[in-house]
Amino acid sequence: MFTHQPTKRFITLGQFIIERQSDFQYAKGELSRLLRDIGIASKIVNREVNKAGLVDIIGDFGVTNIQGEDVKKLDVYANEQFINALRSGGECLAIASEENEDLVDIESEVSKNANYVVCIDPLDGSSNIDVNVNIGTIFSIYRRKEGMTGPTRLEDFMQKGTEQVAAGYVIYGSSTMMVYTTGKGVNGFTLDPSIGEFCLSHPDMKIPEDGSIYSINEGNYAHFPRGVKDYIKFCQVDDKATNRPYSTRYIGSLVADFHRNMIKGGIYIYPSTGKSPNGKLRLLYECNPLAFIAEQAGGVASNGVKRILELQPEALHQRTPLFIGSKKMVAKAEELLRNAVEKVV
Ligand code: AHG
Ligand code: MN
Ligand code: MN
Repeated sequence: MFTHQPTKRFITLGQFIIERQSDFQYAKGELSRLLRDIGIASKIVNREVNKAGLVDIIGDFGVTNIQGEDVKKLDVYANEQFINALRSGGECLAIASEENEDLVDIESEVSKNANYVVCIDPLDGSSNIDVNVNIGTIFSIYRRKEGMTGPTRLEDFMQKGTEQVAAGYVIYGSSTMMVYTTGKGVNGFTLDPSIGEFCLSHPDMKIPEDGSIYSINEGNYAHFPRGVKDYIKFCQVDDKATNRPYSTRYIGSLVADFHRNMIKGGIYIYPSTGKSPNGKLRLLYECNPLAFIAEQAGGVASNGVKRILELQPEALHQRTPLFIGSKKMVAKAEELLRNAVEKVV
């Protein structure tokens, strides 16, 4: 006799977004459509990322392939995909992208009454494309400031990270995942390539309060501030009771390093250096979105002194030092930074 076995219900990203629409205080549907558009573009980018190893056969990115066609650099290609998806979706007014010096105004009939702006790093970790190592996309969504009408202005983007209505990242890894928050926790979706859908795989993600992984480009050690050097030494001390020495893990793709630490517990640091006093990472489309996710998952993100989400942006491509991850680890790094400053004074 055949008895029907109930199967575990799987939830696609599209279903999840619709189910959670009521969490959102503004017009229902607008944010859902934005997230849907970003999800669609990321699947197209994922397809191309998966082909990146075929460069010897189909031609290198950025050069002409054997059919005489131009093969775009993958980060430029990704940028175009996200812009196109947001343009045709109709909910986005303008985009700030790592790949464009100025704002990208979406001048289309369908988006003239749109209320949102998007900040995006279309391809993060691009130095890892050619070597089959994880890369990602990072995005952040803001509602246009109250009372602002007409063409988008820079002010629409000069909002603190606390004003984000949604933020997320896609990691193109051994599997492809999309992780996002709308300010009600963090959820992760894994792409099932057989059906082409992101499926809820990591509901209500939380960063462990403490961890034993530190991620920093130690090659720059000589140029780090005293407090950062002290923190690295702290991580390396042999002390069983506190699980030290910690392990170093550094991929060189912020998304991938952050994602690992988010699941296992850890800290990612890109500090100021002698050469770059504001570090390397960009506030609008790298630090703010990940800071929003980190906080929503119970973690912390700071520039060493102040909460990332409270920094006032002054330029589209502004940089900031970043200390992000498990609460206790970031607190310890901040403490050693403070102590180092006191010693100098
Ligand atoms: P992008 O590829 O978008 O320019 O970002 C690269 C960033 C980030 O992903 C990574 O963590 C960091 O640069 C690595 O920098 P270093 O090589 O200086 O460590
Ligand atoms: Mn980046
Ligand atoms: Mn990039």
